[in-house]
Amino acid sequence: MSSENTVNPRTILVTSALPYANGPLHLGHLLEHIQTDIWVRFQKQRGHRCVYVCADDAHGTPIMLRAEELGLTPEQLIAKVKKEHERDLQGFAIEHDNYYTTHSEETRHYAELIYKRARDGGYISQRAIVQAFDPEKNLFLSDRYIKGRCPKCNTDDQYGDNCEACGATYSPTELLDAVSVLSGATPVERESEHYFFRLAEFTTLLKEWTRSGRLQEQIANKLSEWLDSGLQEWDISRDAPYFGFEIPDAPGKYFYVWLDAPIGYMGSLANLLERTGGNFDDYWGADSAAEVYHFIGKDIINFHCLFWPALLHAAGFRLPSAVFAHGFLTVNGTKMSKSRGTFIKAETYLQHLEADYLRYYFAAKLGAGVDDLDLNLTDFIQRVNSDLVGKVVNIASRCAGFINKRFAGRLIDEHSEADLVQAFAQEAGTIAQLYEQREYSKAIRTIMKLADRANQYIDQHKPWELARGPDNLPRVHEVCSVGIVLFYYLMAYLKPVLPVTAAKAEEFLQLELGWPDGNESLGSHEIAKFKPLIQRIEQAQVDAMIEASKEQSTVQHEESKAVNDDSEISIDDFFKVDLRVARVISAEYVEGADKLLQLRLDVGDHERTVFSGIRSAYAPEALTDRLVVLVANLKPRKMRFGVSEGMVLAASGEDGGIFLVETPGASPGMQVS
Ligand code: 2FM
Ligand code: ZN
Repeated sequence: MSSENTVNPRTILVTSALPYANGPLHLGHLLEHIQTDIWVRFQKQRGHRCVYVCADDAHGTPIMLRAEELGLTPEQLIAKVKKEHERDLQGFAIEHDNYYTTHSEETRHYAELIYKRARDGGYISQRAIVQAFDPEKNLFLSDRYIKGRCPKCNTDDQYGDNCEACGATYSPTELLDAVSVLSGATPVERESEHYFFRLAEFTTLLKEWTRSGRLQEQIANKLSEWLDSGLQEWDISRDAPYFGFEIPDAPGKYFYVWLDAPIGYMGSLANLLERTGGNFDDYWGADSAAEVYHFIGKDIINFHCLFWPALLHAAGFRLPSAVFAHGFLTVNGTKMSKSRGTFIKAETYLQHLEADYLRYYFAAKLGAGVDDLDLNLTDFIQRVNSDLVGKVVNIASRCAGFINKRFAGRLIDEHSEADLVQAFAQEAGTIAQLYEQREYSKAIRTIMKLADRANQYIDQHKPWELARGPDNLPRVHEVCSVGIVLFYYLMAYLKPVLPVTAAKAEEFLQLELGWPDGNESLGSHEIAKFKPLIQRIEQAQVDAMIEASKEQSTVQHEESKAVNDDSEISIDDFFKVDLRVARVISAEYVEGADKLLQLRLDVGDHERTVFSGIRSAYAPEALTDRLVVLVANLKPRKMRFGVSEGMVLAASGEDGGIFLVETPGASPGMQVS
């Protein structure tokens, strides 16, 4: 269906921040992608040319080191992670027009171009700096890879730039007994040549740009503080070894990951246009008439509102129309926590719950500001069940049966509720404005008020009672048809938020839900048989998701301990580990833990209970009497299911299954060395 805006379609380019390619997506990432996707879907539904691009942020030291830990090349790691990210984003119905990677020829092209133009404009300087260096790993160490004692309060185990205990900030050279987190070696100071972007040259431009109404007030204020205190040169180079793009005129020097990350937006767009046709400069050229918007978290505003506009300007590209920052996600009132099971991965959520539930909940709480958003899981269940199931879908389910059975699926030709229907159509402008301004919670409130009105209308006329008198059939037809028309409007307004449910509603209504323009007429339209569009959330589903997240954190903890502990140990260290042969007496599933088995072990002179993450590979009954290897002097660990008294050894690979280490023929209690 058309809307007045289709006459004047806007050309809009939208991005979400690029997730790092070294780990899984979690619900925090989803907050941003859902916020962006709702906005993009809304623009498309209104008939605008809106392009939404994103990519994995594939460069930098953490990715290089993670690949090394896993025994992969960085290219292998980023390819694997990209697939997982794409799977999860699709699972949440995030409809990017292109999801790419910064490790691409397109991004390299624009990174080099921007750098060269900045250099030729005189905006790049060069000088030697002294940095901490790990003599064992042969790597310069950023602050996060150095730990030591706080020089102010003496607290141990503090990072290289600030103390979590007393809040002091310092340089890594001031840390006491500093060590490299990577090797345990004492860092040494080493000099090397670095390249800098002369950000201060753009102070006037940035002051003007940040105050031109393109940014949220809180963000503009924060930026003003930085701008007023004077901008420093920005270090844009890193020394080899580094996973990234080599700087064109500087062998062995690489672009710092944050230099090419936003350029990844360009790379993703260029890659899309190679496939679909279209002109890059229509979006990014200095005279482009398109609108360009970046959705980001509030923690990365310096990169998007200072460095990025300055770089664009230096290289002759247009600046963003606006940058939209959002707050952080908390779960049940606090920071997401692995041990509480509230660090929820996108994949885990989708194993237990529908995408539209979370999309709705986020929309119902998101405003245009930078406040943090709390996912309160009790409120989540209640809100989704009462609004979506109890109010919106209920309207269709109360009316559809009569239309399907009594009137061959046809709505009534004409009805006498023009005013009521008009009242629903008339909200299109207000709701559109709220979506446009990213005031989703206000849009949802407006839509739910309409849903209340629709339910009141049906409650008032009670088609189920009318249907008892055969003379009332025309009235039943009218009331239920009006109910379906009202449902149509509600779903049209909710479509940007609930794409999965809206697609089912379109099937049921047998029409496409465009943005209403007040001219829709559904008289005598035929609808399909009604099937439930969305199920209630059960508490048990949420509980299972939390349990699964807790369990993952236990398994990950074990894995990362094993992975991180790759420094050499002495033979004495090795002998501290008491390895014993143990016979499996019995094994059983652990309720609520889909990775664990509970093993009862005979260790010769006594028995033990051990929880082991081998459930995916072994059926309990297949384990009886097997002779396995037990780490017998591991400190007992209290788990949710009981105390685990040791650990059994198993080989495991990334995708290669799990294999218990066995000692056939040995006797329980024998020492293994
Ligand atoms: O903070 C992050 O997760 C970065 N990977 C975001 C990059 S956004 C853009 F600049 F590429
Ligand atoms: Zn301190």
